[in-house]
Amino acid sequence: MGDCSVDLDKCFEVVSQLVDKAGALVAKRNETRQEFEEKANDIDLVTATDKEVEQLLINGLLDVFPDHKFIGEEESAAGGAPNKLTDAPTWIIDPVDGTMNFVHSFPHSCISIGLKVNKVTEIGIVFNPMLGQRFSARRGQGAYLNGRRIHVSGQKELGKSLVTTEFGTSRDTEKLKVVFENFQNIVPKVHGFRMLGAAALNLCMVALGAADINFEFGVHAWDVCAGELLVLEAGGVVIDTTGGKFDIMSRRILAASSEELAQEFAKHLTQFSPQPRDD
Ligand code: IPD
Ligand code: CA
Repeated sequence: MGDCSVDLDKCFEVVSQLVDKAGALVAKRNETRQEFEEKANDIDLVTATDKEVEQLLINGLLDVFPDHKFIGEEESAAGGAPNKLTDAPTWIIDPVDGTMNFVHSFPHSCISIGLKVNKVTEIGIVFNPMLGQRFSARRGQGAYLNGRRIHVSGQKELGKSLVTTEFGTSRDTEKLKVVFENFQNIVPKVHGFRMLGAAALNLCMVALGAADINFEFGVHAWDVCAGELLVLEAGGVVIDTTGGKFDIMSRRILAASSEELAQEFAKHLTQFSPQPRDD
């Protein structure tokens, strides 16, 4: 147990079972291309499965923890309660991260769920059921892939780094200008760029030591809550893209395998402040 009023072992057990159930549903649906609706624009998508999985997770957690709070992607999109993070145990949920991939049956989507208590992330799970990759972490207890302990690469050199990022789900021309500018400036300085199409999975690649850096402007709290803990527990660092302290509601993230690399990388970025913030 961590915080005396929250049984974190129980939380981990309950959420693990629910994530299994959600994963079976996502994998089944991913066998065929999915119908979708558009949210903020024509590349910001939602499917019936996103909504179903979010309800499955929230209802399953509420059955056992009736006082817990929730910040879920689809409830937020539907204009639910504002994303005010309090000290109360709060589950931050992305039912399907990589919805564009999911719509196309491209097998890189995941369920991403984190638990914050007193605003500190205690539990993080990212599960890609199509590829059977389950990343999990508890604060102070390390990061795991399918039960095997994982570590960041420890890479310190920018020139030898593999970088993950995304175009994002915005069509905003100012934002896209910054995305392209960063590609142009950074590609010649690093080993390579990769894009999995799911922010949470990109972070997991840093935790796994398969990638050395992940950055993105435009992410949401539910994309990065679990992934941040995974990177930290794997020995990496997570900061703001400017080099300062990470703020989960800021919609910006820079994760790296070492502090030196994170700070060095931040210096090369053209910055952007996505609006509105998540809170
Ligand atoms: C998005 C995906 C995408 C990333 C966006 C996320 P969604 O989440 O992870 O790759 O670029 O920042 O919001 O909409 O697929 O759940
Ligand atoms: Ca997402």
